[in-house]
Amino acid sequence: RWVFVITPTHRRFTQRLDLVRLGNTLGHVDNVYWVLVEDSARRSHKVDRWLNASMVQHWAHLWRPTRGRWQVRGAQQRNHGIAQLRQMINEETDQALRKAYQDGVVYFADDDNAYDVALFDQIRQVRSLGAWPVGLCGGHFVQRCIVDPGTGKIVDYIAWNARNRKFPIDMAGFGAHVRHFLSPDSPEDVPMFNVSSMSGQLESDFIDGFGIPLAEIEPLGDNCTKVNVWHVRTAVENFTRYSFDELFDV
Ligand code: UGA
Ligand code: MN
Repeated sequence: RWVFVITPTHRRFTQRLDLVRLGNTLGHVDNVYWVLVEDSARRSHKVDRWLNASMVQHWAHLWRPTRGRWQVRGAQQRNHGIAQLRQMINEETDQALRKAYQDGVVYFADDDNAYDVALFDQIRQVRSLGAWPVGLCGGHFVQRCIVDPGTGKIVDYIAWNARNRKFPIDMAGFGAHVRHFLSPDSPEDVPMFNVSSMSGQLESDFIDGFGIPLAEIEPLGDNCTKVNVWHVRTAVENFTRYSFDELFDV
């Protein structure tokens, strides 16, 4: 099964470091389609070069500047990725490939997190909407769902602000079957990130758009006990001697 990995990315000192690391991971995984969306008004040659140099076989290089509310980082880029993915799959002329794409899974991978290649096999198990633990996330060593061993259903969540979020799931902690994005006849009915979501509610509001109750979300990662993705914040020193433009492929 195909995994469509949608990644927003923005210009900063650690951008190449983070993209190299993510590209190295994705390069080890078969049937990954990487949709990289720059937070930028134009396509940057550097990112294009990095993508070409990466081991990732299937990718799309997109760009979309953040307009208006910038607080919801990456939201407009992910939405652009969804819209383009929808178009790309619908316009695929190779019928066998289109059929295969139509059974894929969509995953939103921030460019700075760390991913075990095992995560992608886990993502491939998603039938409709799946969730799994995320390490070092929102003040928790592990953010995860709690599964009732009797029913095998998710009954609760250990997560930041779990009481005030309908779906207390991090961006890195869920995957959705691509049909949710393809089947609606009207593009307005496609689940999208709401750029006016309240702070901290971006994922919860988005997941709400699938119309699937919490108990029907598939707990993956050995019933939400195995961590295969971690939040990372790449630390940088305070560089005073270099301006950004002096840096060439660092
Ligand atoms: C957390 C969540 O894990 C994100 O998925 C969520 O988008 C974010 O909070 C938020 O809603 O603010 P966090 O580590 O705090 O992530 O944020 P970043 O890693 O800085 O940004 C998340 C993604 O958005 C990254 O892929 C980053 O490259 C991208 N981004 C960030 C942009 O495209 N533009 C920006 O101006 C900043
Ligand atoms: Mn991050």
